[in-house]
Amino acid sequence: MIPTITIGPHRLFLGDAYETRAKLGFQDCDLFDPPYLIRASGGGRYRKKRPMMDQLIIEDLHKDFDHSIINPLQCGAVVVFAHNDQLPKLLPLLDGSFHRQALCVWQKTNPQPIANKHYRSDLEYYVHAWSRGYHPAGAIGDKLRHSRVSSPRGAAKFDHPTPKPDALMDKIVGNVAGETICDPFMGTGSTGVAAIRAGRIFTGIEHNPKHFETAVARCTAAFQERAAA
Ligand SMILES: C[S@@+](CC[C@H](N)C(=O)[O-])C[C@H]1O[C@@H](n2cnc3c(N)ncnc32)[C@H](O)[C@@H]1O
Repeated sequence: MIPTITIGPHRLFLGDAYETRAKLGFQDCDLFDPPYLIRASGGGRYRKKRPMMDQLIIEDLHKDFDHSIINPLQCGAVVVFAHNDQLPKLLPLLDGSFHRQALCVWQKTNPQPIANKHYRSDLEYYVHAWSRGYHPAGAIGDKLRHSRVSSPRGAAKFDHPTPKPDALMDKIVGNVAGETICDPFMGTGSTGVAAIRAGRIFTGIEHNPKHFETAVARCTAAFQERAAA
């Protein structure tokens, strides 16, 4: 039995993404920010300015994810955040699995102060891929492929190395068709907060008990705020 918290119509599971997602059935959109594929060591004289990299290693968030979790039979669309080095494998997979896809980007106004033999991490990508009937939603003015927002300093706010900004998640959820949204790599619940605010039905999965607790608190607050409005 997977430990589950229910908040109104929303469900949050403390468990493994792969095992739990396989049991959930069809969702209109799987929207997730999975573990990255990055070289988190090194950094030379800038290393001390990026403790977030140490936390990524401790939490094993730098070794990519199992792409079999992307299943077009289980969702109408997917939105997947991806580090630069994940794109060469991710794009052909999505291209072969869904009707169409769009490569989108968000620009951090406050990127990490590093450039160790590479570019700075001022841009982060996400791919939105959809089957017929699940094409991007929103008014024409909301359908831009880019946003420019500041990145929360996670360690200070939620003690997580990579929480996503609320403004970014609100924009992405607004571009997703349908009612149900699932985030199998929920972290601190940023997708859930945006989904609940937008009146969607959210399902989240997270295996780290500390981050799960943060997600429960954030999603509960979002639910109560919406109920009170
Ligand atoms: C990149 S972070 C997501 C951060 C999230 N977008 C936020 O705003 O807080 C990925 C999350 O997936 C979780 N995770 C990694 N592998 C997992 C697995 N197999 N099952 C469940 N959760 C997993 C990690 O603990 C981490 O919190």
